[in-house]
Amino acid sequence: YRNLRIALLGAGSVGAQVADQLLTHADELAARIGAGVELTGIAVRDVDAPRDVELPRELLTTDAESLILGSDIVVELMGGLEPARTFILQALASGADVVTANKALMATHGPELFEAAGQVGAQLYYEAAVGGAIPIIRPLRDSLAGDRVERILGIVNGTTNFILDRMDTRGESLEQALAIAGELGYAEADPTADIEGYDAAQKAGILASLAFHTLVPIESVHREGITGVTLDQVVAARKAGYVVKLLAICERLSDADGVDGVSARVYPALVPDTHPLAAVHGANNAVFVEAEAAGPLMFYGAGAGGIQTASAVLGDVVSAARRHVVGGPGVAESTHADLPVLPISSITTRY
Ligand code: HSE
Repeated sequence: YRNLRIALLGAGSVGAQVADQLLTHADELAARIGAGVELTGIAVRDVDAPRDVELPRELLTTDAESLILGSDIVVELMGGLEPARTFILQALASGADVVTANKALMATHGPELFEAAGQVGAQLYYEAAVGGAIPIIRPLRDSLAGDRVERILGIVNGTTNFILDRMDTRGESLEQALAIAGELGYAEADPTADIEGYDAAQKAGILASLAFHTLVPIESVHREGITGVTLDQVVAARKAGYVVKLLAICERLSDADGVDGVSARVYPALVPDTHPLAAVHGANNAVFVEAEAAGPLMFYGAGAGGIQTASAVLGDVVSAARRHVVGGPGVAESTHADLPVLPISSITTRY
């Protein structure tokens, strides 16, 4: 099968890691896909800007539009609404599948993008838009599609969880902790999106739409950030047996609530210190899902960070690539006969 042509838009903290992994693990990925994946170029604003990972200079270009044309898969990691939206629409119109981590775009223009994809039979993947490395989009869309999700309680912003956790465990002020989160690369370019809850609200809109099979527009997500939370409040909450967490709460309402519908809201909430969400420290995220048949489920892991989020992006790239390869390995289960035989160790005592 011919090599699949992958175009990357953006080489920020996630984009640079995705490029690096695509180049470093090309052979392994090709074996899983059944075709080679060729990174044809990386569109950036400034070719000379410093990057987290050194990338081959010949791959960098400022001409995104030319790069998109002729690609099989376009990976959009620029963030922001424009020009990301225009580029994604161009990619879909050309028949390419698109992988994006852009929560702002998905929360704001999701329906338009899905419609554009549907018109040409292309696919739009966005596992990395919520929860960084945590698989949560597919579980809600696929694994739980036969169940009835009743409620989601999510810690979906790493920066604010990091800040609240530092206030709780180290007695730091919000400003001190925010400065450190920025240095560690968790915060958005404009940290207002994190601390005022916009980022979490976008993710809440995406989760609620998936969980309840409906469209929850970002304007209808109630939003309150953490800027009003003081160290005194965090300390008092802890003494009373609670932890302050910025929660995204998505709920199916019933007649008992006086409304039949759904609700999505983001605000600093008191979580009992015995709840599993209370144990989510640092920049980690967790999505606690309550489903009618499955009962409670928790999805936990790194919610921010370049290389961690790259994991989710690359999973989407593999899914998209497999779609292009007729007769290729497809899903892993169907390929056991073709897999290389690895030595199986008899060590059984190592945890
Ligand atoms: N700024 C975001 C966060 C990055 O802190 O969670 C991941 O979306």
